[in-house]
Amino acid sequence: MVLLLAQEYAAVPSILTEYRCGICGRIFAGLPELEEHYAARHPEAAQPVVVALNLNGKPRELLVEPHWTLQRALQFSLGLTGTKHMCDRGVCGSCTVIMDGRAVLACTTLACECEGKTVQTVEGIAADPAWKPLIDAYCRWDAMQCGYCTPGFLVSAKALMDKNPNPTEDECRRALAGNICICGTYPRHAAAILEAALKMRKGA
Ligand code: FES
Ligand code: FES
Repeated sequence: MVLLLAQEYAAVPSILTEYRCGICGRIFAGLPELEEHYAARHPEAAQPVVVALNLNGKPRELLVEPHWTLQRALQFSLGLTGTKHMCDRGVCGSCTVIMDGRAVLACTTLACECEGKTVQTVEGIAADPAWKPLIDAYCRWDAMQCGYCTPGFLVSAKALMDKNPNPTEDECRRALAGNICICGTYPRHAAAILEAALKMRKGA
C-alpha cells in the first residue's frame, strides 16, 4: 500500500496510466498485456479488473482484484485511508461512504460493483468548503477521542444533512445508530451536527 499526501493524491491521473501486477509488481502499458501476464505467470490467480467511478467529484479508474472491497480499493489503489477498516463485517460504520446519495458500508461493498457509481469519502467532504461548518463543529464539540471512528460518523452525518438540513437531535441519533465508537463519544455527535446544521442554514 502506498500512502499519499493530499498534493500527491491530487496529482494521481484520473485515468490509469500503468497496470501493475499485484503479485510480482511488474508494470504493463495496458490491461490486455496485464491479463496475458496473469494467464502466463499467475494462472491460479483471479484476473484484476478496471473499475471506473466518480470519486469525490472526479472521474477515477481503479485497478482492483475482483474480491476487493471498496474500502480496500480506496486504501490500496489510491492511498485513501479515511474510510476506515475496523470490523470488516458491516457492523461498526467506520467505513461509511456515500454512494449515489446513500450512506453505504465500504467493507461490504465489492469494488467491482461500483462501476459508474458516484462515491463520496470523508476526504472529499473535508476538502469541500461547503462542509467546513460540520468539520469545525466536530472539532469544537471535541466529538472524538482516538478518532478512528470519526470519519465514519462524519460521513453518516453528511448523508443525513444532505437529505435533512434541519434535523432534530433524535434524527441525528437515529442517522448515526449504525456507527460504533469504542471510546464512547456518542453524546457529542448530535450536538455537533445540530450546531453545524444551524450555521449552514444561516449560510455561515
Ligand atoms: S469496517 Fe465496515 S462496518 Fe466496520
Ligand atoms: S473516538 Fe475512538 S473509537 Fe470513536
